[in-house]
Formats: sequence, C-alpha cells, structure tokens
Amino acid sequence: MEELRIEGGARLKGSVTVSGSKNAALPALAAAVLTGGAVLRRVPRLADIDTMCELLECLGCRVVRRGHTLRVSADDPSRTEAPYEIVSRMRASICVLGPLLAARGHARVALPGGCAIGLRPVDLHLKGMEALGASISVEHGYIVARARRLKGAHVRLAGRFGPSVLATANTMMAATLADGRSVIEPAAQEPEVVDLAAFLRGCGARITGAGTPRIEIEGVSALRAAEHTVIADRIEAGTYLLAAAATRSEVTVTRCRPKHLAALVGALREAGFHVDGADGAVTVAPGGRRTRPLNVVTAPYPGFPTDLQPQTMALLSGADGTSTITETVFPQRFTHAAELARMGARITQEGATAVVEGVGRLHGTEVEASDLRAGAALVVAALSAEGVSRVRGLEHIDRGYEDLEGKLSSLGARITRSAV
Ligand code: EPZ
Repeated sequence: MEELRIEGGARLKGSVTVSGSKNAALPALAAAVLTGGAVLRRVPRLADIDTMCELLECLGCRVVRRGHTLRVSADDPSRTEAPYEIVSRMRASICVLGPLLAARGHARVALPGGCAIGLRPVDLHLKGMEALGASISVEHGYIVARARRLKGAHVRLAGRFGPSVLATANTMMAATLADGRSVIEPAAQEPEVVDLAAFLRGCGARITGAGTPRIEIEGVSALRAAEHTVIADRIEAGTYLLAAAATRSEVTVTRCRPKHLAALVGALREAGFHVDGADGAVTVAPGGRRTRPLNVVTAPYPGFPTDLQPQTMALLSGADGTSTITETVFPQRFTHAAELARMGARITQEGATAVVEGVGRLHGTEVEASDLRAGAALVVAALSAEGVSRVRGLEHIDRGYEDLEGKLSSLGARITRSAV
C-alpha cells in the first residue's frame, strides 16, 4: 500500500500542464471496436486507461502504447463479452456496449455494481440500445444485447438526474452504424461527448448537434480507423485551480480550454479570487485575504461539475462563512465530508445538500480516499491544512490524475509518495 505525505501550508507557484481527458479518452478507446481501430493522442497514463486497454484486448483488439499515443486495431470481431472482473473495476467499461452491438451484432456486458458515489443504474444505456431496435435481456448479472442491424430512431434519454454522459456516448456510437437517422434528446452536452463526436466524424460518422441537447446521427454502412487528439482534462485542470485557491496561491493551468471551466471560474470569482482565462490557460490568484462562502449547485454541463464538487468542498471548508453545496447529479456523493471532518471541517448534510461552515484553517491528519474525486478533495484539503497529512486510498486517485505528486511538487507543494 502507498500513501501521500503532504506538509500543508506551502504556497504554490508557477504553472502546470493539464493532461488529456480521462473521460474523453475512455469512450474514444471503446469506439475503436466500432471503427475497426484508432490512433489516439494525448491519452493520459492512468489506471482507468490501462483497464480499458485490458478490456479492448479481451474484445480481440491489439493495443500498442507509445508515450501518450495509443494505437488500437480491432482484429477479432468474434469476441463480444466484457467480463465482470473488468467491469467491476471500472464502470466506464459499459461504453463498449454500443460499439459491440453496432459493429458485431451482439454484446454480453457485465452489469456494473454500485460505487462510492451512488447507485448508478444503467437503465438509460439499455433504453438507448432498445430504442435502436436491439433486443436486451439481463441474465445472471450480464446485459445481453442482440441486433442484426440497428435502426435509426428518436431516442429519449431523460433520466431522473438529468441526461447521462455515457448513455449519450453509447447511444451515439451505436447509432452511427444504424440504418437511417437517429435523434438523441435530451443529450448530454459535456465536452467529452463533443470530443467523441469529433473523433467519430473523423472516422466517417455523420453526427450533428453534439454539445447541444439534441444530437442527430445519420447512419452509415461502415466507419474507418482515424487519428484523434483527446481534449484537455477539465476536471484535472479544475482540481489544480482549486488547490491553488485553497492554498491562496497564484497558479496558471496550461493547455486547457478556459471555456470548459466557465462554471468553476464563475464560482472562484464569486469566492473572491482573480481568475483570468485566455489562450488555452487559466490563472487563479487570491483577490483578498479571505475566501468568501458560496452556494454551489452541481448540474450537467454547462453547470457546475459534480466531479469538482468534493474539491470545492475542501476549499469551502476553509472559507470565511457558511456555504452550501447541493448535488443534483449524484445526490449521495458526499463520502469525502466525513474525512474532511477528520481534518477539522464542519459539515452537515441535509438530503442532497451539504452545509459547510468555514473553519479558516484545517489541520493535517491521516485520511482515506473512498473514490477518485474524494481523494482529490483530501489532497486539496491537505495542501491547505496546518501540519502533516497522510492520504491513503491512492488506487482511487491513480485512476484519474496523471503524476499528481510530480505536478504538485513542480508548483512547490511538499508532497511525497511512499510505501507503507
Ligand atoms: C460520467 O459518468 C463520468 N464518467 C463521471 O466521472 C461523471 O461524474 C458523470 O459522467 C457526471 O458528469 C466518465 O465519463 C467515464 P451519468 P456517467 O450517466 O456517464 C444517472 C469521474 O470522477 N443515470 O451522466 O456514468 C446517474 O445515476 C467520474 O471521473 C441513470 O439514472 O454518469 C446520475 O445520477 C465519476 N441511469 C446521472 O444519471 C443511467 O442509465 C448522471 O450520470 C445512467 C445514469
């Protein structure tokens, strides 16, 4: 087991380069099953990417990695099973459902279980496939989907908690090879969906409207392998901006798209920080001596991202006043609150709202990450806290942050990883 030892209180300084987006790279890799292959650039080196590569190999693909470039060729179309052993490690494995069904006519994908951030059902994925004419059954914990040729349809993907990012991706991928025209409504508008559509268009797909609530897809008979550079990871970028804010530092995050961070930039300004975003970089700096409290409500893009909610809670734990954080995407995503409380945070929960009473300064202690962004929140908290923290549960953090301690050290953080 490993842990991060963080000596809090160091001012961060300088600039940090964002990696490619995990959540854009994962569906793009799955899409290689659909397109027959892909060369993807700027793929981050992360545990989740390794898991997706393992899954692709299970599905008869060959994956060659050189640095941040992955070359995938889909060689054996007879393989159509995504086993529980892999799906249980990474829920995003469900992204292969649409590609397998559309390109190979059959898919057997283990049902992902719940996870630390909530129940996470897959009904919208199944609804999307069924609307396109697939026959679906759930047998012994596996989704079994069949279709000789999918048929274009008007797919309504409204969920109880808004549109679904990966159900939109799955349905869009499946519809690229369907017979006729499909409409997905309401579609998730996340930049990762837009990036996937751009990659698929490069492979010959006919997709319009990605980035709006209505995506239209004109089915084609075949797609071809293509090259694509994955977009910057807006959540990683946001995490460094929040780390800078929590330590009251001036930091520039480079090679990102400021537009994708608009909701966070707005919140940081309201909390009293100076934020400038231009030319692929965002700089944050303290505007005064205190962090003002906020009322944050997470929402699908372009709303405030749920994937930055835990890190924002870490910032607001040290604010001057009482904040509220309401989760409308994953109402149970508050497991980090109890660990932040071990560092002195005062947080109470009322339904899907957390009330965060700012305590000025947290104090370092041992804490354990329960999931990826909860882990990031603990790191942000530890950087700002007085004294030493030891963060465990790094297997979660390593799923989504490439070289976290290297990047933070380069900004002047006192952070080291060691075996325990
Ligand atoms: C994606 O998950 C991201 N994962 C998540 O990032 C992110 O938190 C989430 O979108 C929301 O932005 C990847 O892209 C790999 P959803 P996804 O389906 O697509 C409900 C991270 O930390 N829902 O958009 O699985 C669901 O329970 C991860 O990097 C259904 O009801 O999330 C939630 O309440 C964690 N039925 C809401 O929709 C379904 O069939 C939105 O979830 C599917 C989802």
